[in-house]
Amino acid sequence: MSSRRSVLRRLGALGAAVSAGCASLVGSEPEAEPTVDLGENPNDLPARQHAWNAALATDGDGNPMTPRHSRVLALDLDAEPSLDAAETVERAVREVEAAYPWGADGLLHALAWGTGYFERLGELDASPIRSPKVLSRTDDPELLSFDAALVLASDVPAHLDRTEAAMFEGRDELAGRPVEHRLGDVFTVSSRRTGFMGDGLPAEHADAEGLPVDVPDDAPMFTGFFSGREKTQAPEDRVTIQDGRFTGGTTMHLSHIVETLDGWWQMSEDDRVAQMFSPEFDPADVEEFGKNVPFANAVEDHAGDHGVVGHHEKVARVREDGRPVILRRDFNTTDGGDPGVHFLTFQRSLDDFEKTRKSMNGWYLRDDHPQIRDRDNNGLLEFIEVRSRANFYVPPRERRSFPAFSE
Ligand code: HEM
Repeated sequence: MSSRRSVLRRLGALGAAVSAGCASLVGSEPEAEPTVDLGENPNDLPARQHAWNAALATDGDGNPMTPRHSRVLALDLDAEPSLDAAETVERAVREVEAAYPWGADGLLHALAWGTGYFERLGELDASPIRSPKVLSRTDDPELLSFDAALVLASDVPAHLDRTEAAMFEGRDELAGRPVEHRLGDVFTVSSRRTGFMGDGLPAEHADAEGLPVDVPDDAPMFTGFFSGREKTQAPEDRVTIQDGRFTGGTTMHLSHIVETLDGWWQMSEDDRVAQMFSPEFDPADVEEFGKNVPFANAVEDHAGDHGVVGHHEKVARVREDGRPVILRRDFNTTDGGDPGVHFLTFQRSLDDFEKTRKSMNGWYLRDDHPQIRDRDNNGLLEFIEVRSRANFYVPPRERRSFPAFSE
């Protein structure tokens, strides 16, 4: 018996013990042999659920292009951990994999497990994640805990709708294939995050409250800039856990940021470039950036000389070997009626995220210029507010169904 099976057998026993006397949607039968080889990868997809780059098309500069539409379904677990539940999850996700090719023209996805799930198992302290924290003085976010989340991304919005309908709403066909196994047999969708990233999409959502009409027709984000240059992202290896029980996976942070952009669009383009990147650049420089944003590591000098600093030059201080330590898969949204961002990132350790976010706060500049305050002239901070935060673990594909266990 593989160690994965024996582990799930123990999980089954645990589930049976936990759910004794309670109605559980999926039965816990510790003795059952698995009828699905959970460690198999029948659709021959990358071993890492978070390794999307090789499946993305590139722009004219060679930068990977994020899928244009994204959705995150936050999930409540209805079943206790068990072999049966793990098999149901595995069969269901394999049906999605078989229906759509792995890529932006098909579907990219990842099943992530949240702090609620690890807490339920009594394994939160042993897991690579922890409860989210307040990370800045300018925000008072809701600190959320979920059992799991299904991340979906595609250039074709119907692929997201149909996958959600097949997995949770009883749709019986996906891309011409019958659907027999559903994530909805094990999970309930507790909330949804929807959004988009790419040229022209923000302008199509310009009816969101608080969004000035100025967003250019071809802007990829509400702020007008592109944010996906290859070298401004952590490499996938850098965000992958390298050893221990959770090896091959990554951590995922998800925050909901609301944007108030009237003031942003009232500024000149020069000032927007200064506050997004650095006062050392002008709009013509940005046109030339290509696959990277040059980083002089001179944010304190810029603060003193210009009384304003850019978002990029603050977060780039955390670079290692010339690259950031977080991989951003964020997308713009109008969920709740406000323009904003679902800031989804992958990183090896949540410390990497927290270090980056603290660098973005710019507290170290407080004595460099009287005009630079917690929010004022401090990159994007005048224009954004974090509404909520949540943390997840994204297992490697072969361990994606009920990943927490003792070896
Ligand atoms: C409304 C929210 C945000 C917007 C509009 C935004 C926008 C951008 C843009 C335009 C870039 C330049 C990237 C490029 O040209 O390729 C960038 C880089 C970056 N941002 Fe943000 N960002 C936001 C929030 C955040 C947050 C919350 C974090 C982390 C806590 C963050 C971390 C980073 C990092 C690590 C980089 C790359 C730095 C490097 O090159 O070393 N951003 N962002």
